[in-house]
Amino acid sequence: MSATVAPREVVVVTGAGGMGEAAARRLGLGCHVVLADSSDAQLTRAAERLQSEGHMLHTVRTDVSSAGDVATLARTASELGRVRCVVHTAGVSPVQATTQRIVDVDVIGTARILDAFEPYVQPGTVAVCIASMAGTMSQIDAETLRLLAVTPTDELHALAALDPATMDPGTAYGLAKRANHVRVEVASIAWGRRGGRVVSISPGIIATPMGDAELAGPFGDVMREMIDMSGTGRRGTPDDIAAAVEFLVSPAASFITGTDLLVDGGVVAAMRNPGAPTG
Ligand SMILES: NC(=O)c1ccc[n+]([C@@H]2O[C@H](COP(=O)([O-])OP(=O)(O)OC[C@H]3O[C@@H](n4cnc5c(N)ncnc54)[C@H](O)[C@@H]3O)[C@@H](O)[C@H]2O)c1
Repeated sequence: MSATVAPREVVVVTGAGGMGEAAARRLGLGCHVVLADSSDAQLTRAAERLQSEGHMLHTVRTDVSSAGDVATLARTASELGRVRCVVHTAGVSPVQATTQRIVDVDVIGTARILDAFEPYVQPGTVAVCIASMAGTMSQIDAETLRLLAVTPTDELHALAALDPATMDPGTAYGLAKRANHVRVEVASIAWGRRGGRVVSISPGIIATPMGDAELAGPFGDVMREMIDMSGTGRRGTPDDIAAAVEFLVSPAASFITGTDLLVDGGVVAAMRNPGAPTG
């Protein structure tokens, strides 16, 4: 007599870098893990490590800025079982990418992920989009923010605020991550009608290939000062972020949706309070 094979839930992780791999490791126990990245090398490296630990891995090469790729990802994941969560970590940073690419991947890619998975949302499905503490520091007027929140994804390119000619990659990154916050707010309403939730996390400086590249870049000294002045005085680990993701997708967070969780080791608190007593 053969044993009945129980259907398995599906954990989708975009971005097979530092945070993506840590999130897949924490959340993937007993689930199908669908890992998506635009880089075959990144996908293979992370998938081999996770598979060697016993996880059930499926890789889907996906450029999150491509509507077609993201639609294929969502369909592939949903065919494996009920999508329990989508952890969207794929992204590019100012030292890695042009302004155009930051707009395409960090702004439009995130909007595409939220759109593509919405039809597959079931009660309990949760999306966690990784934004950045840079988003909390971005100065954007209310009307621009409204447009970033509600403009249909295919029309985002035409927004004056996203014209790559008007900003450098650092400014674009902050704007992109602030856009993630408001996109998550709006998506939480439609996802909520289906019983799902949508949240973002804004990490501080995290020890991943991207974090290392930024620390080695032109603003590395400023970032080290930010770490030194923070309450924790250290960089975050990828698992610090994965732990926050684990909480946000759990039933303990069932009343948390449409909002952002700042996980920055206290950097923003220290920057907002220069000269505060240090004890
Ligand atoms: N590391 C930090 O200090 C830090 C701080 C704040 C926010 N973040 C954000 O956290 C997220 C995860 O970053 P990380 O630190 O794990 O970086 P990482 O560089 O380790 O991983 C990012 C992954 O995204 C993939 N990627 C890039 N463009 C893609 C695309 N178009 N489609 C699919 N995959 C793509 C890369 O190949 C890479 O594997 C990013 O959104 C980043 O902006 C990082």
